Amino acid sequence: MTLKLGLTTTVVISSSAMAREALTKKDRRLAARPIRDATRALGWSDRSVGWLPSSNPLWRTFRRVMATQIFSQRSLQQDTHGLRERTVRDLVRYLRGRSGQEVAVGRVLLSSTLNLTSNILFSADIVDMEGGSPERLLETLEAAIDPLMWKPNVSGIFPLLGPLDIQGRRRMAAAHLKKLFSFLEGVVDRRLAEVDDKHNNDFLDVLLDLMSTGEMARDDAIALMFDILIAGGDPMSTTVEWALAELLHNPSTMSKVRTEMAAASFGCNSKQAIEEADLIRLPYL
Ligand code: HEM
Repeated sequence: MTLKLGLTTTVVISSSAMAREALTKKDRRLAARPIRDATRALGWSDRSVGWLPSSNPLWRTFRRVMATQIFSQRSLQQDTHGLRERTVRDLVRYLRGRSGQEVAVGRVLLSSTLNLTSNILFSADIVDMEGGSPERLLETLEAAIDPLMWKPNVSGIFPLLGPLDIQGRRRMAAAHLKKLFSFLEGVVDRRLAEVDDKHNNDFLDVLLDLMSTGEMARDDAIALMFDILIAGGDPMSTTVEWALAELLHNPSTMSKVRTEMAAASFGCNSKQAIEEADLIRLPYL
């Protein structure tokens, strides 16, 4: 169906046949997304892998670096495997320690997935699970994601009004982005100031190499780290939070998961943790 929102036409695809047509046959023509006005804050959309068009050379560089350094088989199976399992172990330990108490699950999950992503990027946690980080990064990230991604903006419906930023979404986004970019600047500066020239074997090492050979500008490298931080952390925690909510709403699904886990000897009372290699025995999960 077609929706006319102000001056913007939106087509909603709700059948699998149409979705297949759009996402496979017409993929090249449709592989882009409208720029949300708030993402123009501090020029972010001009150097963001999420918003640049796929015809842009910088977008291709970003994609190449991500494909070889983050999403390659070697990276997923060897380099970051231990980090993922450690993150899950820490998360389970944290939740076990609060058994019987109220826990803001979404927040705990987001903290975990952000720490996982920041460790892949620059080998450090950015959220202290026990009490927030000194820079209050979690709050700033959440506050930034709202105007950037979710909050409706009249500038998107009537693009001519964009420059006026009537609801202040772009100003709001700029204020939060400034703090986040300056945090990442600090991360880069501290790494450059390290005297012992040790290799951390993380994504930042790769970016510093690209910067030193002039293949990537410093601002672009920082924008890429920022993109991966939010594109990685937020959807992972949201997916798990939704899965948990759906399980709670659907007792029969929950019971199938529990039965499967028990059959594979992972009961509630079992001390044994599920590792990535075990997932093959848990197809329903
Ligand atoms: C459950 C986890 C995840 C889900 C559901 C998810 C979902 C998505 C979706 C729907 C898109 C938009 C694709 C498009 O418009 O064509 C996207 C883009 C992206 N995702 Fe994920 N994602 C997940 C995890 C991750 C992780 C772990 C990372 C990085 C470590 C990541 C990095 C990105 C990036 C950089 C983009 C933009 C790519 C581009 O536009 O070229 N995502 N993701």
